[in-house]
Amino acid sequence: MLNLKDRRFVVTGASRGLGLAVARALLSEGALVAVCSRSTDDLKRLYSHYGEQVIYSEVNLEDQRSIEVFGSTILDKWSWVDGLVNNASTLGVRRLKFLMDSSYDELEEALRVNYLGAFKLISVLLPSMVARRRGVIVNVTSDVAVKPEAGWGAYAASKAALECMSYILAAELRGFGVRVHLYDPGDMDTELHRRALPEDDPDELLKPEHSAKPIVYLLSEAGMGLSGRRLSVHEFGDGINSE
Ligand SMILES: NC(=O)c1ccc[n+]([C@@H]2O[C@H](COP(=O)([O-])OP(=O)(O)OC[C@H]3O[C@@H](n4cnc5c(N)ncnc54)[C@H](OP(=O)(O)O)[C@@H]3O)[C@@H](O)[C@H]2O)c1
Repeated sequence: MLNLKDRRFVVTGASRGLGLAVARALLSEGALVAVCSRSTDDLKRLYSHYGEQVIYSEVNLEDQRSIEVFGSTILDKWSWVDGLVNNASTLGVRRLKFLMDSSYDELEEALRVNYLGAFKLISVLLPSMVARRRGVIVNVTSDVAVKPEAGWGAYAASKAALECMSYILAAELRGFGVRVHLYDPGDMDTELHRRALPEDDPDELLKPEHSAKPIVYLLSEAGMGLSGRRLSVHEFGDGINSE
């Protein structure tokens, strides 16, 4: 049993793909989940289905103020959070392109959403975790952060920054009861992947529901002892469920 009933979690980028799969998995375990993204139709559908288990908000992670409002809405209602999943991401560019052909603005967008946006939300929510000496942060990363390839410049650099921040936070928060995990979900059949590599066969890609399971596991007490490590979906196999 993962014992997530009534626990309070925040998932960014929950309008589709991995974030939506994580939110649904947590909600089906009875957890309370605050979700955000720029588009809200899919978030509203979660609210219609799960009612008061859900807080949803339109948030652009490029905008600090919108993150602060989201954080205050959550803390006003729940007083604290048990876990945060920094999942939302952008490639920064419409199609993959060489770094030398990328603009300052494209790199800035990737850094703002994937790195600075995650940092901002952590800084808003972390005090409530530290005060209770209990909490978990899962930062979703990508293999290109550690194996950079031509064409992935803006995105890979932002994920590398996120990884560096995660290791530092994990070390700093040791002794404060807050775990920090880096999680690589693998190549999934999602909009982000379709935009990056449209030639890939969707049948060869992981389903976001599959890659969501280890995140749910890491958010539970079962994930204790793994803080400060970079984990990949492939290390978990098929064996994680709530039984
Ligand atoms: N798919 C893969 O193969 C793959 C591989 C390795 C790692 N990952 C990682 O897995 C995570 C999930 O990716 P995915 O494949 O599920 O991507 P996705 O389907 O494109 O979903 C991305 C989510 O992020 C939100 N988002 C994007 N820009 C935002 C912004 N400025 N402010 C707020 N929300 C924003 C999107 O909603 P809105 O557009 O409505 O804002 C959407 O909900 C990401 O961290 C990604 O880097 C994916």
